[in-house]
Amino acid sequence: MAAHRSTTPPRHPARSRTIVRPLSLGVALSLVTAGISVACSPSEGAVRGASSAGAPGIGDADFPEDGNGGYDVEHYTLKLSYDPATKRLVGSATVQAEAVQDLTAFHLDLHGLTVSRVTVGGAEAGFGRQGDELTVTPATPITDGARFDVTVHYSGVPDPIRNYANLGTYGFIATADGSFVTCEPNGAKTWFPSNDHPADKATYTFEITVPAGVTAIANGEQAGPPVTSGATTKFVWREKHPMASYLATMMTGKFDVRTGTSPAGIPIYAAVDPAFRSTLDSLYTESGRITDYWAGVFGPYPFSSTGAVLDDYSAGYALENQTKPIYGGFSPTTGIMAHELAHQWFGNSVSITRWKDLWLNEGFATYAEWLWSEHDGKASADSVFRAYYEKALDPMWSYPPGRAQRADLFNNSVYTRGAMTLHALRREIGDPLFFALIKKWASTHRYGNATTEQFIAMAQQVSARNLTAFFDGWLFRTGRPAATI
Ligand code: TRP
Ligand code: ZN
Repeated sequence: MAAHRSTTPPRHPARSRTIVRPLSLGVALSLVTAGISVACSPSEGAVRGASSAGAPGIGDADFPEDGNGGYDVEHYTLKLSYDPATKRLVGSATVQAEAVQDLTAFHLDLHGLTVSRVTVGGAEAGFGRQGDELTVTPATPITDGARFDVTVHYSGVPDPIRNYANLGTYGFIATADGSFVTCEPNGAKTWFPSNDHPADKATYTFEITVPAGVTAIANGEQAGPPVTSGATTKFVWREKHPMASYLATMMTGKFDVRTGTSPAGIPIYAAVDPAFRSTLDSLYTESGRITDYWAGVFGPYPFSSTGAVLDDYSAGYALENQTKPIYGGFSPTTGIMAHELAHQWFGNSVSITRWKDLWLNEGFATYAEWLWSEHDGKASADSVFRAYYEKALDPMWSYPPGRAQRADLFNNSVYTRGAMTLHALRREIGDPLFFALIKKWASTHRYGNATTEQFIAMAQQVSARNLTAFFDGWLFRTGRPAATI
């Protein structure tokens, strides 16, 4: 597939599909704009309700219904059983959060599935569903600054998101032997109730029970060996560093696994569907080697382990799931792996605050592919840049990458012109300052969130230059910027 060439950005499978906007979205939007809370509980009268119910969105203007307002999640504990034969997911999610306002009610994002019971601080809570919003009304209102936990018991056959905002199918996808879970940008809600937006990162515990013989893989590291009792096996995984909801995964199925450490000592977990058994050793070795290489270029690896999961589900794409990128049905080139592993620094450790800044993820990861190509003795970053620059009629010149568009979030411009922006910046300020800037970006915002404005400000500070016109031309204007060759 063309998408797997080392210097070609992995393309979203449906970047060019027609937009099919579900009717319910328009309905939800008009409720939001009218200031009407979809929560309907007796405690929410006209007087108090508007000011003390958490908002149904986190405030991303392009995706107003994504995430939620009024609280910050600290930790998710997902206790889930999945049976590949029936495709049913059953269990509970406990969300530990801190209120950032008084809350008579608050929202979680949840798509499909049946909620049977909700408790807040152990006490029965009211709940309601409206589209992909789950509204929780605690028995006692929560005060601003208080820590609270909400447990949602739920079950059902997960339904992935299809064709939302031109994004193809993503979320929890059932496979022949298990599940393939890739959730960017807002598919976490297809398998657990969440504040489903990268602006609210949290740590995670996954307790996943599957039929004996099936392997369950999630982010982070295993708390101990899997425990089989009777016909089922329970796997416990912990991601102890903050993670955006779209990077959470539970890959289940038949897997061959290899574990160990990279030459520099980073723990590696690599797993392949038995159909890809011959790829396991190279996937394992290259994942470790590339992670080590990026630690030299970008600064210390931010997480506690690295790895890869290669399933036989033919998604044709990859996703940078935290600590374990996922490859859907193809043996990745080292270029693709270099892209997904670079995301561990750019996207996963340093996360975006709103989707329009997506070039901070994809431009950086694509530029990493070019750096890898050069390191690997193939085309130099400069020659890749020049080849793209010569394409004067490429559609990317009419799409400013610094403002990713809702209807075409993963446009090639966000990847390629985003990467070109970094290379042009490198020419502009020189190698020593450029690589110092990249390391400083990774360390300053490590485990946090950042914006394009912050990147520009840091570039100007590190270089002691006014780069307004430079970034304006590369990121925010249509048309090919003047060459800085
Ligand atoms: N971030 C992925 C990459 O560049 C692409 C991607 C976007 C994706 N949305 C996705 C992959 C959903 C899988 C599912 O590698
Ligand atoms: Zn990417």
